[in-house]
Amino acid sequence: MYILGIESSCDDTSAAILEDGKVLSNVTASQAVHLRYGGVVPELASRAHEQNIIPVVDKAIADAGISKHDLSAIAFTRGPGLLGSLLVGTSFAKSFSLALGIPMVDVNHLQAHVSAHFVVDPAQPMPPFPFLCLLVSGGNSQILLVKDYMDMEVIGQTIDDAAGEAFDKCAKVMNLGYPGGPVVDKLAQEGNPKAFSFAEPNIQGYNYSFSGLKTSFLYTLRDNIKENPNFIEENKADLCASLQATVIHILMKKLLKAAKDLKIKHLAVAGGVSANSGLRNAFMELQEKKGFTVYVPPFKYTTDNAAMVASAGYRKFLKGITCEQTVAPYSRTTIES
Ligand code: KG4
Repeated sequence: MYILGIESSCDDTSAAILEDGKVLSNVTASQAVHLRYGGVVPELASRAHEQNIIPVVDKAIADAGISKHDLSAIAFTRGPGLLGSLLVGTSFAKSFSLALGIPMVDVNHLQAHVSAHFVVDPAQPMPPFPFLCLLVSGGNSQILLVKDYMDMEVIGQTIDDAAGEAFDKCAKVMNLGYPGGPVVDKLAQEGNPKAFSFAEPNIQGYNYSFSGLKTSFLYTLRDNIKENPNFIEENKADLCASLQATVIHILMKKLLKAAKDLKIKHLAVAGGVSANSGLRNAFMELQEKKGFTVYVPPFKYTTDNAAMVASAGYRKFLKGITCEQTVAPYSRTTIES
């Protein structure tokens, strides 16, 4: 069974082909047009998707070494995301499905991130159900209790900013460009994680909050710049290392609490922030020192990509679930819908 996956929820246009859950190709066109604005400009993202989608799908099919007539179904990201961007992927999926006379499967973008763990690959063991997944991206920070391929319960989530947003916003005030997460990660490797301490939230249950950390980071910069105008430049690596260590500490503390309370030994991580080297190391440490089995996705499946969409679509299609031509994208939704 060949599934074409299409991802266009934000600023990456991606297409992938899976054969019985195994990735044959995964092609992504990223959009450099947003760099100069310090964030994604929705209108520009839609226009770039419109230009990229046909070449990206063409390349994914060619790289897989199949013909479009071999496809069994088309899986596409229906939401959540930027509506104009989602419309490009959704409309393309509708036209292609009509032209080929094959079904469509709508995919929840958040479920797709978790489904990166369901790709069939002997080098990538699949977590057994139930497991906990820390889903951390630019728009989400959640702890999920994953009971089945499509049955995911949110047991904790951020009440304000997402972890990726905290990285991006703090990086922006240091003039590190957008997205700032990868730059913070790189600089952190040369810095002292204990050089600065920032506020950590104290909130109920398994929920997260990152707005206090962001404010505390800003105040540290403001207070020190008064004394030394070159403070950021001279302390960049230490600031990044301390920020990263605080984000990871906040994330892991709640995940561990949930794992202990629910007596779950299998822990996964997904989403763009799962590319962070410090967070990946923290997961590996749980395995080495605390007896958990951890599942850290390959880098290529961390940030937005179509392989994860095709993987989620494949599991849904196996259950016989498809969608109609009248399907419309949604900008907001939960992982449970
Ligand atoms: O999952 P994703 O590609 O897009 C969505 O938000 O759905 O995640 C993007 C986020 C951005 O906030 C980016 O800064 C962050 O993932 N990110 C990282 C790293 N790579 C990407 N954050 C920290 N360290 C990284 N290495």
